Amino acid sequence: MRAVVGSNCKGDSGTCPGGERKMMPIGPLMIEHRLIEQMVKVMAAELPKMEDKRGARIGFLSEAIDFIRTYADRCHHGKEEDILFRDLAGKPLEPEEGKTMKDLVAEHIYARKVVSRLADAKDRYARTQKEGFEEIVACLKELVGFYPSHIEKEDKHFFLPCMTYFRPEEKDAMLREFWEFDRNLIHEKYRKMVEGYKR
Ligand SMILES: [Fe+2]
Ligand SMILES: [Fe+2]
Repeated sequence: MRAVVGSNCKGDSGTCPGGERKMMPIGPLMIEHRLIEQMVKVMAAELPKMEDKRGARIGFLSEAIDFIRTYADRCHHGKEEDILFRDLAGKPLEPEEGKTMKDLVAEHIYARKVVSRLADAKDRYARTQKEGFEEIVACLKELVGFYPSHIEKEDKHFFLPCMTYFRPEEKDAMLREFWEFDRNLIHEKYRKMVEGYKR
C-alpha cells in the first residue's frame, strides 16, 4: 500500500485540518459508516434477547432489513460502487489496492445474499411463528460479524490512499455526484414500491 501523500485533506472525517474545511468524498461515506456501526450494535443487542425468548420481533427484523437494504446497501454501497469504485477503476491503482477494491465488491455481494436469506427467513417465521428462527439468528450473527471488519478495511486501509489519485476538482465533482445520488434515492425507493403494486 502506498503512503498517503499529496492529499490536501486528510482528517478522519475526510475534512481538511486547519483553516480550510473542505470535505472529501470519503467524508460522507465515513459518516455513513458510523450510523451503520450503531445499527449493527442494535442488532447485536437484539440477538441474546431473541435467543433467550426463542422468539423474534417481526417489526424489528423488518426495520433492520430495510436499514441494511436501503441505507447500508443502496445508499452507502451504491455510492461506493457506482461512483467511487467506478472512478477508481480508471486510475492506475497499485495491485494491492485493485485487489482490495475487488474484495470490497465481493463483500457487498455477500452482504446482499445474507440479507436476502434473512428476509426469506423472516417471512417464513412471520407465517409460522416457528420456522426460520435459527436462520434469522444465523444471518444476524453473520451481519454483525461482517460489517465492522468491512468498515475497518475501508476506513483504515483503503479510502485515504485512494483519494490521492484524484485532483481537487475531481474530488469536488465526486462529492457533488454523491449528493445527487442521495437526492434521487427517496424517489427511487418509493417509485419502485408503487411499481411493485402495479405488477
Ligand atoms: Fe463497502
Ligand atoms: Fe463502506
